[in-house]
Amino acid sequence: MNRVIDFIELHRDRYLDELKAWLAIPSVSALSEHAGDVRRAADWCADHLRSIGMHNVKLIDTPGNPIVYADWLEAGDAPTVLFYGHYDVQPVDPLNLWNSPPFEATVRDGELFARGSSDDKGQVFMHFKAIEAHLKQNGRLPINFKLILEGEEEVGSKNLDPFIESQKDLLKADVVLISDTSMFDRGVPSLCYGLRGLAYFQIDVRGTNTDLHSGTYGGGVANPAIVLAQMLAQMKDRSGRVKIPGFYDAVRPLSDAERAEYKKLPFNERRYAKEIGAPKLYGEAGFTTLERTTGRPTFEVNGLLSGFTGEGAKTVLPAVAMAKVSMRLVPDQDPHKIGELFAAYVKEIAPRTVQVEVKAMHGGWPWMASLDNPFVQAAGRAIERGFGQAPVYTREGGSIPVVATFQRVLGIPSVLFGVGLPDDRIHAPNEKLDLANFYSGIISSAFLYEEFAK
Ligand code: BES
Ligand code: MN
Ligand code: MN
Repeated sequence: MNRVIDFIELHRDRYLDELKAWLAIPSVSALSEHAGDVRRAADWCADHLRSIGMHNVKLIDTPGNPIVYADWLEAGDAPTVLFYGHYDVQPVDPLNLWNSPPFEATVRDGELFARGSSDDKGQVFMHFKAIEAHLKQNGRLPINFKLILEGEEEVGSKNLDPFIESQKDLLKADVVLISDTSMFDRGVPSLCYGLRGLAYFQIDVRGTNTDLHSGTYGGGVANPAIVLAQMLAQMKDRSGRVKIPGFYDAVRPLSDAERAEYKKLPFNERRYAKEIGAPKLYGEAGFTTLERTTGRPTFEVNGLLSGFTGEGAKTVLPAVAMAKVSMRLVPDQDPHKIGELFAAYVKEIAPRTVQVEVKAMHGGWPWMASLDNPFVQAAGRAIERGFGQAPVYTREGGSIPVVATFQRVLGIPSVLFGVGLPDDRIHAPNEKLDLANFYSGIISSAFLYEEFAK
């Protein structure tokens, strides 16, 4: 193992240059103008995986973006790990808020700034380098390794579940490994044992067939912007509880034991509020901020659009109003069932003065792991060796819907070892990756493969 770690230490600078080259490809899956770049990012992965010695590297076409596959299966009876990550990234807007160009990765104060640095290219790249170090120094990996990288994670992974359903043999493994989550805090390495699910919708409200002069018509018809606002205001009550009937029916309550564990985590509400610039924290009554953001479901508005928003003033009655909304779900809420409850509630509260349409965008199941799994324990030991500190076990508020799919379709558990930081600004301007975490992450990953083999 020392040879492997020495190799990693020796090549640190090269790693950064290589990662910068991958980050320079703007693989934004949400924007069709980047379709070529998405493909180029996949090709880059495939070339890189070949260069580090992975076998059977190929792009597998889907109706959307290709899936990168690679394996190394010469470890005999040792367990087989299925690694999952994504090579697509979020859009970069608003561009003017970036302190350096999002696709020219820049190091400042030990952090690498670029779109995708933390979510998820940088974290995937840790494993490329851990694999490379094993293969270059020992000519082998301690475990059998299968790897898939998708290019549609940030837009709902539409083609991933069908791919997994149809490729059960190809993907057969003992455990899934993912690095696409965060540490609890700087200096607090973590293993994630829970993710929230998601149900995402667009609501369209139409009042009239065209925008109207607000003097001539104002007062005579319903204003779709106001109707939409009134409907959204009925989604939560003042104590932060979601008002959709049946929304909480399947929610697994937080046990006293789990709440006690939450309390042990080093979390400072005041510092948290200050960091994000919130004048005062707000959420469901009776729960702490950590519980609210990871162990409880929520309804949120993600975007709102209506009427005149340009410079100056324009007296107009908008013809339409639109909102993007989503619900984060916890075990055992079913995203389809929640979608039905939501649509029924919208229908119930929609006034007859407007036409309201609800469109489902995407969704995914919540997930929770059992901590007594030997692979989770092995990951804990690897992190302790790599970071010099045992990990804490956390639930995260974000979603990686495929984790539930792996459990359901392949029947295997996932280990979520992430080295992001809560302030990495993923999905936002100035996304960054902490380089110390990146290097400790490579070393932990190298240990992880060894620990998995034990
Ligand atoms: N890596 C994130 C998920 C994540 C974020 C996990 C923070 C833990 C902490 C992933 O790329 C992501 O953004 N997921 C989407 C899922 C959606 C597009 C289906 C999310 O959570 O919004
Ligand atoms: Mn991600
Ligand atoms: Mn993401």
